[in-house]
Amino acid sequence: MSNVRAAITGIEAYLPEYVLTNDELSTLVDTNDEWITSRVGINTRRILKEDGLGVSYMAEKAIEKLVKSKNLDPKEVDLVICATVTPDMVFPATANIISDKCGFINAWGFDLNAGCSGFIFSFETVRTFIESGRYKKAILVTGERLSSVTDYTDRQTCTLFGDGAVAMLIEPTSDMNLGLLDSILHVDGIGRKFLYQPAGGSSHPANTDTVNKHMHFIKQDGKTVFRYAVSRMADVSVELMEKHNLSAGDIAYLVPHQANLRIIKATGSRMGLTDDKILVNIEKYGNVGGTSIPLVLCEFKDKFKKGDTLVFTAFGAGFTWGAELYRWAI
Ligand code: UT7
Repeated sequence: MSNVRAAITGIEAYLPEYVLTNDELSTLVDTNDEWITSRVGINTRRILKEDGLGVSYMAEKAIEKLVKSKNLDPKEVDLVICATVTPDMVFPATANIISDKCGFINAWGFDLNAGCSGFIFSFETVRTFIESGRYKKAILVTGERLSSVTDYTDRQTCTLFGDGAVAMLIEPTSDMNLGLLDSILHVDGIGRKFLYQPAGGSSHPANTDTVNKHMHFIKQDGKTVFRYAVSRMADVSVELMEKHNLSAGDIAYLVPHQANLRIIKATGSRMGLTDDKILVNIEKYGNVGGTSIPLVLCEFKDKFKKGDTLVFTAFGAGFTWGAELYRWAI
């Protein structure tokens, strides 16, 4: 049994400047603002436009802010985990590139690919390192350049995704009532047919055929993913509440993955939460994959009080899904 918990002690975000509006999208495909806002809840998303820049660029910008706000010596960082499905390149890991750019010369680390569950899966991973007692200052960075794998000729997917990165400092706390208290996480490979990027890996390496067939872009059977997401996120969040004897009144805020406002509302409602306890920023940033939950945490951090009970829940490609019980520690 560990005598420490893993706590987020600093969090900063970077969002690219370019704002992609529903009106601009309606010049690219047959869509409109009314459909997107009523079916999904998105008004705008941020897009990293510049060629040659990837997740490590946005991660570096977020980490620069974190280093400054925490007065952190990069040499003290001992672990770097980057959750992403849009790494700078297939290898080396984006965590390596970030470590080099940010001067984490005493750290080791790796990338973690869990689709839109990237944050909750990587936080559970960091937790085990911190609770082992061997690691004291971990950087957990989530970043996606989903615009790089979005097909702007496909109206089923191109309205959904955005770019951004969030950097978190994770440290041990000896207060056992704070930090990451529990996680319930799942994978089910049945989902691989419904949300995926077909080419670019070893089964379909890049060639002119894969490019011509748009196989390097996100493919999603939206209806099927919607059905699974609604039931799995709600079920696992309720399971977490029951396991810890929590009623809706015990939860300060639900911090859900931001894929669709209707999924978010359905999850909150199954948990018995009123709208004021369900944190949302999908209207501004769209679906930023595993970066969505940290983006919400960063945006609302001044609202949280030390000891506030938060529930994180996500669903993503794989399928991957889960829920986490967290007590705000700063
Ligand atoms: O983050 C990882 C997990 N991902 C998710 O959780 C996403 C889950 N899925 C969803 O959020 C929703 O399924 C979508 C937002 C992707 C789609 O919404 P929907 O309400 O499920 O729409 P649909 O796919 O059932 O399509 C309804 C209609 C269709 O037209 P018909 O066949 O009824 O004539 C589509 O062709 O809406 C049409 N449609 C559009 N119309 C205007 C689909 N996309 C668009 C569009 N603009 N962009």
